[in-house]
Amino acid sequence: MLTSLHSRAQAEFHPAPSIEPPEETKLAVSSSLPANAGCIGSFVGVDEGLKDSHFDRAFLKAAGFEGKVGQTLIIPRTDGPPLVAVGVGETARLDPGTLRDAGAAFARAAGKQTHLALHLPDTGTVSADVAAQALTEGVLLARYRYRPYKQHSEQEPPLETLTLVTDSRNTAEVEQGMARGGIHSRATAFARDLANAPATLLTAARMAEVAESLAERCGLKVEVFDGEALARLGCGGLLGVNAGSVEPPRMIKLTYTPEGSRQGPVGGVGRVALVGKGIMFDSGGLGLKPNDLVHATMKGDMSGAGAILAAMTALKSLGCKAEVTAYLMCTDNMPSGTAMKLGDVLTVRGGKTVEVINPDAEGRLVMSDALVLATEQTPRPDAIVDIATLTGACQRALGVLSAGVMGNDQSLVDQVRGSGERTGDTVWQLPLDRRLRPELESEVADMKNVGGDNAGAITAALFLEEFVDGLPWAHIDMAGTARAERDNAWRSKGATGYGTRLLIDFLMGFTPPREVRH
Ligand code: BES
Ligand code: ZN
Ligand code: MN
Repeated sequence: MLTSLHSRAQAEFHPAPSIEPPEETKLAVSSSLPANAGCIGSFVGVDEGLKDSHFDRAFLKAAGFEGKVGQTLIIPRTDGPPLVAVGVGETARLDPGTLRDAGAAFARAAGKQTHLALHLPDTGTVSADVAAQALTEGVLLARYRYRPYKQHSEQEPPLETLTLVTDSRNTAEVEQGMARGGIHSRATAFARDLANAPATLLTAARMAEVAESLAERCGLKVEVFDGEALARLGCGGLLGVNAGSVEPPRMIKLTYTPEGSRQGPVGGVGRVALVGKGIMFDSGGLGLKPNDLVHATMKGDMSGAGAILAAMTALKSLGCKAEVTAYLMCTDNMPSGTAMKLGDVLTVRGGKTVEVINPDAEGRLVMSDALVLATEQTPRPDAIVDIATLTGACQRALGVLSAGVMGNDQSLVDQVRGSGERTGDTVWQLPLDRRLRPELESEVADMKNVGGDNAGAITAALFLEEFVDGLPWAHIDMAGTARAERDNAWRSKGATGYGTRLLIDFLMGFTPPREVRH
């Protein structure tokens, strides 16, 4: 329900254009070049390592093309569509990440063409299906644009077909990899749509409707908790942050149960609980943020929740074996006469009290309720993973390409790190240094919601750790990685959908880190 007059005057709002049929790119594998290709790509290394090169190296060299990763050369022809030479660097070091970047470079070189063909390289280092997945992701993600509010989106039209050209021996493998790449990319594009959507249109209530509309298609159980239900659950963190808003809050609980598994004994390979920060717009509350460019991006402060929802849309089609529950904690953070005041004390789920020293440290407040709910599940989860655009401090420490990861269980953190490497949604571990815990001591409550001036990413994680009851837990701070200010390989400018593919990979490969007492 749109509540404001100004939003009623808007054209109809599409919260998820990337997963509606007209936007979908047709993916094909073929042993010959498709007749309609508007551009044909082939890979070239800095050495002779790729067997099936389609170019004369002396010719490429004369044109200044050396085959470095991401380098492209467009070769126009009179008798057919242009060819694009795409560099992959040293062929002995070729990995899926390089191929994803190379696929993206090809897509960007191809410009507006709507039918692309790409020769699958015969590499010694990457299997055909993994190569097909990486290339498909690179192309589709580079081609992503958020179009609903562009009147002239034909200037950057959606890609209609992508064909991978390969010798007919390994077609089945290539098709599988390509399909997987399609699923990962579609989910990522969905997460981007959600984070790019204007905050007045994508409210917490609307986010819940989007989740509900996907439930059946994606094999998810979706339960939505409104303000009343949250009050009954004692979710004082989410309700405290919502207090200043005219938009009602929502906690969206998603459950994925693998086929064949029953409640009770583990049917799959374990149980994961996910918690996502879903701040639909972070104004800073009564600690109002300045009116500047950085804060104009705060419609994306729900990117953690968006990545989880998007990842969970892919689990059924990929045949995930883990049981997954997720809590998306959705509200905006607004200043008003009813907003939480500095010095207020919130009681979160489970009874811990928090003194709100800074109303702009709202993410940890909404997440604390959910972490406690996750620990209360029966049976208990084998691991809890949370993901949030939590701290500017993390962005300052690590930049915009890697998120921070911290946790209380190294083997769980290592699983997250592995998924980061495989998907290119990389993470870098920061120390969960418990000597900093005294910074959260409060005069009046069990803890304050912020620590001191330094190590803000770590004190935020220490705050969250208070609510996980010792269960294996990893926290991903994606404040820096949620957005790209410019096109960079497969990260198209705007929301990146960071975390979606990382979470899919993590859930697909999940193994319980240690015995959990039930
Ligand atoms: N949503 C912000 C963090 C953020 C910053 C996300 C930059 C994306 C880009 C978060 O709610 C916030 O305001 N954090 C404060 C924490 C501080 C008040 C302890 C920050 O980072 O300044
Ligand atoms: Zn925030
Ligand atoms: Mn904030």
